[in-house]
Amino acid sequence: MDTEQLKKQMKKIKVKNVLNADVEVENNSSLQMIGKGRQGAVFQYSDDICVKVFGNQEDCDREYYALSLGKNTDLFPKVHAKGKLYIAMDFVRGVDLREYLQSQPLTEELSNKLIQMLIVFKEIGYERIDHHKRQIYLQEDGSLKVIDVARTVWRDRVYPYPRKLLNSLGAENKEVFLSHVQALAPELYKEWLHYIQMEELSREIYQVVLNEAPDKEKQKEALKMESNKLLTRDDEKNYVVLLEGLMHKVFKEEWIKTMLARGEDPYKVMEEIDKYWVERELESIGMKEATSIPIKIQKEKKHRFVGFPESASRFGTRIAKKTKYEKKAKSQSKIKDKDFKKEIKVKYNKESGRKIYTGIIKR
Ligand SMILES: Nc1ncnc2c1ncn2[C@@H]1O[C@H](COP(=O)(O)OP(=O)(O)OP(=O)(O)O)[C@@H](O)[C@H]1O
Ligand SMILES: [Mg+2]
Repeated sequence: MDTEQLKKQMKKIKVKNVLNADVEVENNSSLQMIGKGRQGAVFQYSDDICVKVFGNQEDCDREYYALSLGKNTDLFPKVHAKGKLYIAMDFVRGVDLREYLQSQPLTEELSNKLIQMLIVFKEIGYERIDHHKRQIYLQEDGSLKVIDVARTVWRDRVYPYPRKLLNSLGAENKEVFLSHVQALAPELYKEWLHYIQMEELSREIYQVVLNEAPDKEKQKEALKMESNKLLTRDDEKNYVVLLEGLMHKVFKEEWIKTMLARGEDPYKVMEEIDKYWVERELESIGMKEATSIPIKIQKEKKHRFVGFPESASRFGTRIAKKTKYEKKAKSQSKIKDKDFKKEIKVKYNKESGRKIYTGIIKR
């Protein structure tokens, strides 16, 4: 091959890469362009040789490296010359599989050849054991030739099965090919099937995640609204009651700590505290004497309660709180706060040491 002649021609061709499109070509040579893609444009150089001119050096080096890996096989065009931005190689005759399969069936024999092709890919060290059907040519003698191999090497990500080849065959031929693989190489078929199923699963998971996302947002919004029910500060009266309860609790805890630090008996201390609160609260509703005077049953109705100090000591505030049920009940019976009397007994749970209040509130 006259490489000087080739060089001269190459100076007259400019190829520029375009994002997401085939290259742009400025051809002032006498060579005729026979095809182009994203990486380069291909020109007929002689009857048996064509030259691929690249838009950038990396793609050119990559394709050259991939072709050199396969130079001892019959699967790829032979390289005749290499420049910074071009590769002169065998002109591949025959028909590519995209065209061929439009009118011809995918026979088991052809499937066999495709599996052999993948084996060669693996043997020569290609990282991507895969290829699109339009880059695979069926020759007159029945053998296969593969072009456009730059993307088989120097890859970050590869797939564990020939995804591109299978998908490029189309749904029907994909099934035919897989049935041939199942018959010719059952273990390989099982593995591919596994990956195909995993791929399907990934797709389903993606859909679930995608559909879940807006729901999650909705749930968050709903919770935001619902949690407003837990807010307490809008109702000023109730707020005072709750705050008072909280302060009682803190005050009691601190008081116990102080008394314990002074070496007092904790049970006795707690009893004293509770007695104090009950008296304070009864006092606040004008019933200071209630703890000492005998219980006077004015009406039949009784409110029995068993609970912890908080519920007992807030006896007075419970009345002030007036839930809508209490308001209703109260308006129905026209009972006044001073009508309430209560008798409270404090017991201690021997195991937990907690106080249990039992008693009857009578009115
Ligand atoms: N060795 C060859 N023999 C015959 N025709 C060829 C040869 N190499 C490439 N061609 C033709 O040139 C076209 C473009 O070549 P090629 O696919 O290698 O370009 P590319 O830019 O690398 O493509 P892609 O965008 O797929 O990477 C091919 O589709 C084919 O028609
Ligand atoms: Mg390419």
